[in-house]
Amino acid sequence: MSDYIVEMKHITKRFPGIVANDDVSISIRKGEIYALLGENGAGKSTLMSMLFGMYEPDEGEIYVRGEKVSIDSPTRATELNIGMVHQHFKLVSNYTITENIIMGMEPMKKVLGIPVVDLKTANKQVDEISKKYGLEVNPTALISEIPVSTQQRVEILKMLYREAEILIFDEPTAVLTPQEIASLLEIIKGLRDGGKTIILITHKLDEIKQVADRCAILNRGKLIDILDVATTSTKTMANLMVGREVSFTVDKSPAQMGDEVLKVEGLTVRNRKKFEVVKQASFSIHKGEIFAIAGVAGNGQTDIADAIAGTMEAYAGKILFKGEDITKSSIRERALKGIAYIPEDRQNCGLVMDFSLADNLALKKYYKEPFCKRNFLKPDAFTQNASALISSYDIRSGQEEKTIVRSMSGGNQQKAIIAREIDTDAELIIFVQPTRGLDIGAIENIRKEIIRQRDLGKAILLISLELDEIMNCADTIAVIYNGEIQNIAPADTLDTNRIGEFMMGVGKHE
Ligand SMILES: Nc1ncnc2c1ncn2[C@@H]1O[C@H](COP(=O)(O)OP(=O)(O)OP(=O)(O)O)[C@@H](O)[C@H]1O
Ligand SMILES: [Mg+2]
Repeated sequence: MSDYIVEMKHITKRFPGIVANDDVSISIRKGEIYALLGENGAGKSTLMSMLFGMYEPDEGEIYVRGEKVSIDSPTRATELNIGMVHQHFKLVSNYTITENIIMGMEPMKKVLGIPVVDLKTANKQVDEISKKYGLEVNPTALISEIPVSTQQRVEILKMLYREAEILIFDEPTAVLTPQEIASLLEIIKGLRDGGKTIILITHKLDEIKQVADRCAILNRGKLIDILDVATTSTKTMANLMVGREVSFTVDKSPAQMGDEVLKVEGLTVRNRKKFEVVKQASFSIHKGEIFAIAGVAGNGQTDIADAIAGTMEAYAGKILFKGEDITKSSIRERALKGIAYIPEDRQNCGLVMDFSLADNLALKKYYKEPFCKRNFLKPDAFTQNASALISSYDIRSGQEEKTIVRSMSGGNQQKAIIAREIDTDAELIIFVQPTRGLDIGAIENIRKEIIRQRDLGKAILLISLELDEIMNCADTIAVIYNGEIQNIAPADTLDTNRIGEFMMGVGKHE
């Protein structure tokens, strides 16, 4: 019997225009946490998708528990006790938690001789495994009604329900808050201590440092190195991965603020259930200012962004853009007036997944010259526009502007949205979680770009769950808790502890 539970040997996978994995060999020990690190588009998700049977390698062999296997479907992977939580979750939103977990493996019973799904037993089973692994959920809740962190629990439970022994996590912490991350890492360690083998894809080096035993580094499809995590510094990992020194803090000069660009007065936003998610928010943002909103996820910050961009309605209050009331303006009117928006949910709100990269990069201007002349679209204009943005934002994909966005790596999808929005030359740019899912090199570039835009005189609204991003970039920091802005102050008068208190809703009345 081999020492390794999984061996991938000389794996090569090609997609049109790109070698996503180029002769990659990794071996994973039973009971270890094995991290995969690499830039956006390096081939991490592809490599793991082959272990999970979503693609088959063009070359190379896979061994599981010492035996050569052909994993031609996720069903086969499941039989081999391999499970995967994908970078973008794959849950059915109008089904309950239990229905999602048991899908394809439903316990059955007979009613009047006809087989039907035994939901009662299923709910009980789900409840049992969720308690066993410390992943409490309400089995009968609908996916559409639960927060992302719970959706992720459901994905994990789905693997455990299928008795997975080899658990693949593709960027599981990208969508979580710091508190949720800490608890997920504990859960992952617990699973390892219980004998499971874990493969963890993440861009966050401190997470690797905290939980992983070994770490493989990929770069543009090739395996660069395999490291023992305990004896390697995060700095070394960073340098190996990006191929240059990466700085974790970006330099910036003091803000040169100009006229007021955006003024929000008493903004109240209600969600679809008529629940007030933003209560009486008032603030303004000036030219040359990065105004950040800090807060724990789900406290109303993204709803403020949606209300300003027009994707959610203001229930009360006013939004003024350069003195003009835009509270009732359409989304396109606002965009034309000069508001750019990088939304949180890149796949559902930021991109048309089955359009090409060129079309996606022109979404904000395809109806204008030179993209459209006398009602005819001009393909050359789309190509030129795309080429320029692809090179200046280092958007990597197989077929340049012709690439269908769905096939692009998560991080490169994000870079595409940022490129398109900044390129509109808007006076107000709203960034929601701009660096989520990006590799450390790309994060550095995007943060520099945000500051560069500020220095060009743009007004910037930055919404981020990452306090270090806010501390690094912001000139002014607002903290939101439970839909209410707790405090607004110049960034240099606040420290993370103080912000942390406001984020928890304490500190306001001291
Ligand atoms: N189904 C596909 N069709 C065509 N190209 C693909 C497909 N899947 C992946 N690719 C390409 O293969 C390369 C590797 O992609 P992959 O998703 O594995 O990267 P990644 O390391 O997971 O990056 P990220 O950190 O951004 O998620 C990318 O250039 C991507 O565009
Ligand atoms: Mg990926």
